[in-house]
Amino acid sequence: MKKSKLRFECAEKLNKLPPYLLSSINKIKLKAYAKKLDVIDLGMGNSDIPTPRHIVERLCDTVTNHPNTMRYPQAKGMPKFRKIVSEWMTQRFGVKVDPETETLALIGSKEGIAHLCMAFLNPGDIALIPDPGYLVYYNGVVLAGGKVYGMSVLEKNNYLPDLTKIPENIARKAKIMFLNYPNNPTTAVVEDLNFFREVVKFAEKYNIIIVHDNAYSELTFDGYVAPSFLEVPGAKDVSVEFFSFSKMFSMPGWRVGFVVGNEYVIKHLTNFKSYVDFGIPTFIQLSALHALKEPGDSIKEIAKVFERRAEKFVKELNKIGWKAEKPKATMYLWTKIPEKFIKMGSLKFCEMLIRETGVVGLPGIGFGKHGEGYVRFSLVTHDNRFHDVCLRLKRLLKG
Ligand SMILES: Cc1ncc(COP(=O)(O)O)c(C=O)c1O
Repeated sequence: MKKSKLRFECAEKLNKLPPYLLSSINKIKLKAYAKKLDVIDLGMGNSDIPTPRHIVERLCDTVTNHPNTMRYPQAKGMPKFRKIVSEWMTQRFGVKVDPETETLALIGSKEGIAHLCMAFLNPGDIALIPDPGYLVYYNGVVLAGGKVYGMSVLEKNNYLPDLTKIPENIARKAKIMFLNYPNNPTTAVVEDLNFFREVVKFAEKYNIIIVHDNAYSELTFDGYVAPSFLEVPGAKDVSVEFFSFSKMFSMPGWRVGFVVGNEYVIKHLTNFKSYVDFGIPTFIQLSALHALKEPGDSIKEIAKVFERRAEKFVKELNKIGWKAEKPKATMYLWTKIPEKFIKMGSLKFCEMLIRETGVVGLPGIGFGKHGEGYVRFSLVTHDNRFHDVCLRLKRLLKG
């Protein structure tokens, strides 16, 4: 490439972001591909399960027969989309949200989370985020000029933050708290509404917006049913909740999600987004609302695939002496690095894992300092491959 004489500088805030976790692992992964290693990529939570047929067919029919759906969409979501979302919230959780004022369509929940930070944080404002946690909370806050306070979520506390440990001066200054159950990366779930009740009280006391990310609400196993944060009385006064079609209907590449809850928060997020995007293409909205309206068995079947893979992977890991427990939800396995390798740290361990075995997992440290010592595997390859994964890991453990 010809060298430019111009010297451009990107915004300082971009330099404040940690190197994207996936990019350092990706580099090593690409090298492994180049060496013709048979890579088994359990890194990114990018579902390999095809989107259910009836949703794809609806899309094909819509784009073939309704060219008007290719015009600019209604940015906040078509009234039909918001109505179905509102009906689904009632039917699934017994939660009432006004389709007009308390729901908003999103170009995937990631987009909504990042934009919510921009809409509500002034430079220097504090946001409370789980550590370890989904990276977009951290990045969204930093890009908005805010400051992050990491709430440690530890195995010994069932990966719930201890609200009493948040210093009074931080709580007073905090504007947003992010929570996420079922959780990425730890796979933790809440067993009842008690913790959410505590959070609502905390939010009322300190005037904090609670953002509950319920992306994995439908990927649950063994009869576990994930609640909505909005089921708690008073929750709507302090919170919004995000949902994702990427996980629920295995539609990660379609880019569609939604947020429901507090009217004031939804109003200002809608307003912010109106300056930066045009919303989800109409043909995608129509396919997604069809999915939510007539899911058939598709949601259950997708969850069943991940459950089957989790079971198989855990069983085989335990057989080779790598201790692991079956999660209650999500599409991940979160496990401690075997004792033998613990000293090298999770990043070095995952780098070695790719080089030596071709298996890609993500280092716990990439999700926050309290993720150190763990590795997250996404269950995004064919069932049979978990046997191969474990054969390779066995060699590594023995070596
Ligand atoms: C906790 C969590 N929230 C949100 C998302 C983003 O989902 P979407 O595809 O809807 O943007 C992910 C993606 O992995 C996630 O793990």
